[in-house]
Amino acid sequence: MTSTPLVVLENVNKHFGDLHVLRDIDLTVNSGEVVVVIGPSGSGKSTLCRTINRLETIDSGTITLDGQPLPAEGRGLAKLRSDVGMVFQSFNLFAHKTVLQNVTLGPLKVLRQSKSEAEARGMELLDRVRIGNQAHKYPAQLSGGQQQRVAIARALAMNPKVILFDEPTSALDPEMVQEVLDVMTDLASEGMTMVVVTHEMGFARRAANRVVFMADGQIVEENTPDEFFTSPRSERAKDFLSKILTH
Ligand SMILES: Nc1ncnc2c1ncn2[C@@H]1O[C@H](COP(=O)(O)OP(=O)(O)OP(=O)(O)O)[C@@H](O)[C@H]1O
Ligand SMILES: [Mg+2]
Repeated sequence: MTSTPLVVLENVNKHFGDLHVLRDIDLTVNSGEVVVVIGPSGSGKSTLCRTINRLETIDSGTITLDGQPLPAEGRGLAKLRSDVGMVFQSFNLFAHKTVLQNVTLGPLKVLRQSKSEAEARGMELLDRVRIGNQAHKYPAQLSGGQQQRVAIARALAMNPKVILFDEPTSALDPEMVQEVLDVMTDLASEGMTMVVVTHEMGFARRAANRVVFMADGQIVEENTPDEFFTSPRSERAKDFLSKILTH
């Protein structure tokens, strides 16, 4: 594996009013790396993700993508949003557009691809997430797991440098979780750079290069999945793992 830093956060701080939600965050995500972020509710995992594509601003510190500081506005910000894909718990698909139209919208409007180019690539990506046969349906006609795979194809269509996943399987019925994790595992093994907030510890063990454990806005522990799950160092991590692994 290469170790070219792709996303670098240095000394990042963020407040919501009096709440210090990100505290001195230092995190480097290398190109091709899969970093799984775990931690208790309210620890700042979503906020961390959202700062990386500037859905949230930061108060101090620096974030760079490919060596460049995150652009604040304008064309640079639009480019950032295509370089940093995001997949949320709620799929956020356009209800009145077909699956294929959902996937081609960004490439047509932002990347200025031709319709034929965007559709060919869209179909290729829908096949890749194993849903090509649903291309002409509307989101409401699909299961949650299928909709989330559309959301992943939509992110991929922008040719992102990194994709952030914020609890992508948390809203799914249990029987649909695996099909989404399988697609994510494929992406990981194909070398996609991924930051994944998840409670799916099986996925973390299988696909992560590194686990980052957050609590109270801080990165408390960072380790390989093997080390983290078998011998967590901090009391916070031990406590967290005992709760999630036994329920
Ligand atoms: N827009 C906001 N305004 C004010 N407070 C916020 C805002 N967004 C998040 N917070 C607060 O910041 C803290 C961190 O929230 P965040 O959503 O990042 O946590 P999380 O680790 O993703 O939690 P969960 O596991 O529940 O998704 C929480 O206390 C939350 O209530
Ligand atoms: Mg969250």
